Amino acid sequence: MTVADALSDRRSCRSFTDQPLAPGLLDDLVDRARRTPTAGNCQGVEFLVLEGKGVVDYWDVTLPVDLRETFPWPGLLVAPVLVVPWGMTDRYLDRYGESDKVNAGLSRSAGDWPVPYWLTDAAFAAMALQLLVVEAGLGCCFFGLFGHEGAVAERFDVPEGARAVGAVAIGHPDLTTARSSGSAERGRRPLDEVLHRGEW
Ligand SMILES: Cc1cc2nc3c(=O)[nH]c(=O)nc-3n(C[C@H](O)[C@H](O)[C@H](O)COP(=O)(O)O)c2cc1C
Repeated sequence: MTVADALSDRRSCRSFTDQPLAPGLLDDLVDRARRTPTAGNCQGVEFLVLEGKGVVDYWDVTLPVDLRETFPWPGLLVAPVLVVPWGMTDRYLDRYGESDKVNAGLSRSAGDWPVPYWLTDAAFAAMALQLLVVEAGLGCCFFGLFGHEGAVAERFDVPEGARAVGAVAIGHPDLTTARSSGSAERGRRPLDEVLHRGEW
């Protein structure tokens, strides 16, 4: 499978079987996903990998039981693996204070950064992970933490200052219960609408 194939084939999968991943595969996927570019070569993305009770706890923290009956994607909760890439803010603040980076003028204060590179890098890693999952013949869905980032950090002892861009559910797609979504049904915008040649 080429990268182009993986990009074309990938669609968000929101319905999984409980079949576990092949032994060793998850570590291999994360090891490859962390090779994406990072600002200043900070390598400041770390991965919270959840299986078994970790997955149960994740949903307990982010989706109260009384809301599950109306949750439109029950098959998402079955995914055997969740990976949450975190941008380790302090690594970036430290790195851009080093002598070869200090001229970039990025402040020690995270809120002053025009682009928070820790989020950029975490998003890159999340995308690479999704392509690798497709290449491995599995399904995945990237989804937001919404207001639950702090609660997830607390439950799993994530260090202060770390920021999550989202979570990636990974597993074997359950084609028997798969259904479409309002988002998925939106057509792809024509290339001419998004490609601006020379000027907008
Ligand atoms: C930043 C971001 C947040 C997303 N959040 C959710 C989410 O909370 N729940 C969900 O089911 N899908 C979520 N998605 C998946 C999108 O809905 C999906 O990528 C989009 O509809 C296009 O469909 P496709 O991934 O099948 O191409 C998110 C995707 C991104 C990039």
